[in-house]
Amino acid sequence: MCGIFAVVNDNSDNAAQTVLKGLKKLEYRGYDSWGIAVKPADKPALQVDKHIGKIGDANTDLPKGKIAIGHTRWATHGGVTDQNAHPHLDCNGRIAVIHNGIVENYRDLKDKLMKKGHRFSSQTDTETVAHLIENKKNSLKEAVFSTFNELTGSNAIGVLDYQSETVIAARNGSPLVVGFDKKNSQYFLGSDVPAFLKYTNRVYFLKDGEGVTISKAGVNLYDLYSGKRKEFTPQVLNWKLEDAEKSGYPHFLLKEIHEQKNTISGTASLNLNELKQVADLIRKKYKVVLTGCGTASYCALAGKYYLSNVGVESQTYPANEIMPFVRFIDKKTLFIAVSQSGETADTLIAVKAAKTRGAKTVALVNARGSTLERLTDIVLPVGAGPEIAVVSTKAFTAQLATLYLLSKALQGKISQAKQKLRKLQGEIKKLFTPIAIKHLIAIAKSLLDEEHIYLIGKHSNYPASLEFALKIKETSYLHAEPFAAGELKHGVITLIQKDTPCFILASNDESKEEVLSSASQLKARGGRIIGIAPFEAEEFDEVIKTPDLGDLTIFPNIIVGQLLGYYLGIGRGADPDKPRNLAKSVTVK
Ligand code: F6R
Repeated sequence: MCGIFAVVNDNSDNAAQTVLKGLKKLEYRGYDSWGIAVKPADKPALQVDKHIGKIGDANTDLPKGKIAIGHTRWATHGGVTDQNAHPHLDCNGRIAVIHNGIVENYRDLKDKLMKKGHRFSSQTDTETVAHLIENKKNSLKEAVFSTFNELTGSNAIGVLDYQSETVIAARNGSPLVVGFDKKNSQYFLGSDVPAFLKYTNRVYFLKDGEGVTISKAGVNLYDLYSGKRKEFTPQVLNWKLEDAEKSGYPHFLLKEIHEQKNTISGTASLNLNELKQVADLIRKKYKVVLTGCGTASYCALAGKYYLSNVGVESQTYPANEIMPFVRFIDKKTLFIAVSQSGETADTLIAVKAAKTRGAKTVALVNARGSTLERLTDIVLPVGAGPEIAVVSTKAFTAQLATLYLLSKALQGKISQAKQKLRKLQGEIKKLFTPIAIKHLIAIAKSLLDEEHIYLIGKHSNYPASLEFALKIKETSYLHAEPFAAGELKHGVITLIQKDTPCFILASNDESKEEVLSSASQLKARGGRIIGIAPFEAEEFDEVIKTPDLGDLTIFPNIIVGQLLGYYLGIGRGADPDKPRNLAKSVTVK
């Protein structure tokens, strides 16, 4: 939610262009507007360029310079206007501020500043930060840090001071990472690594309560509260540049869907000790609670079926609905949070609540260096690599594979599980053959003008249908509504008319006959029945055949949904990488 990027001592002497390129890599974090501030080489004042809309193919004619900051916005406070785009300046245009998060107490702070004569030119909470800093008499570093300490909420800020040619940044609850291109003595600040991966993979992820100063002389780290310098060691990530590039695919979404041909079995060789550790806790009768938001919550729900298959009872809650049930969490609870970004505000709040109840916490997370990673007792990084498309795909399947491995670890069958995941890896390639894609595109074309589609699934295909439907909604804006197959006859069947598209997600398992019986109820009302299953059936008018992988069949069933969503999105003129109104990591409540 909002992307921050800065370069200090830019080697090309064109810092604004470097920031523009970096922001394009962060556009997934928000695309309501974008803006850049540069300290020009030949002028004393900051120059700013701000625009509403996606940064996509945008250009800037900002002058050359060695230091610049930029921002891509997902609007929270203040509408989508040029004025509300970041960076925001103080009254004198001496400092520029970029911000990710929400300053919860900004009204109060703004009222006080206005009484002191500060002039505001936007409706944002962020601008308050610029004026607060301006209002302080101490050194700029101290002013930034003490201002930051006055803010409530989850925030990360970057401040560019034209006089000292320094970027000062601080973090509490929203991600910030520093990149070190030592060879060229240039430094970067970003909300995420892909913004500067082209230059360096040597990074330091700031922790909550830490601040940095970045100048051409180097990077200093501070404790925000005491103001004392801290030692730190950057880490070298094994991410490749291709991870942050489309590598020939028209969209990141399609690239990431295809990457699942490798990422699922990649996950299977990670976290083996941690999985055993978690399994041991479950054996010691810890009560399992799984949580997450959106796709991650569907992953948690699918995990519940896997755990049940091996005789373990668990509970799942969307993180944003967990509060009424937190009182049932105790010291004997194993609280598993699923998250791609590790920065989702609702998920972090749920984990914090579970911790205060004494629970043992586990993170199933894809991005590295996240807040969730630091909050939890046991971390299982699922290793799908950077997920740039807003819509989650490869992180979901890597997380689901990890939950599957956990269920098998409980049976002492982790090697067999790894083998099955390897087989799955081979089999899902069949979904991507030219013939299979042609068939999918034909089905997508036939659905382009529909307003509603319905999906049913039973048992583990129920969470699969939730995820399938979400992919369709996010990427194509088509109303896709999923139901547990057994729910149909309790009301929903009224919606079915002649030719209403109905997807039936099924596996060759104990639920097959029942789901087919639901399919025939839909057919009897005139529905167009499209099976997503490893078998043909007379109930289906059409079928997208998926590989028969037993309890892993939901993986290909879901991947079909990802692909169908992608092609529907293209056909309906949506931007598959940046669905309207969404942002990649939802760092606000
Ligand atoms: C859907 C999607 C969202 C996220 C949700 C949680 O494609 O991406 O529903 O799954 O916002 O995000 P993370 O997993 O980062 O906690």
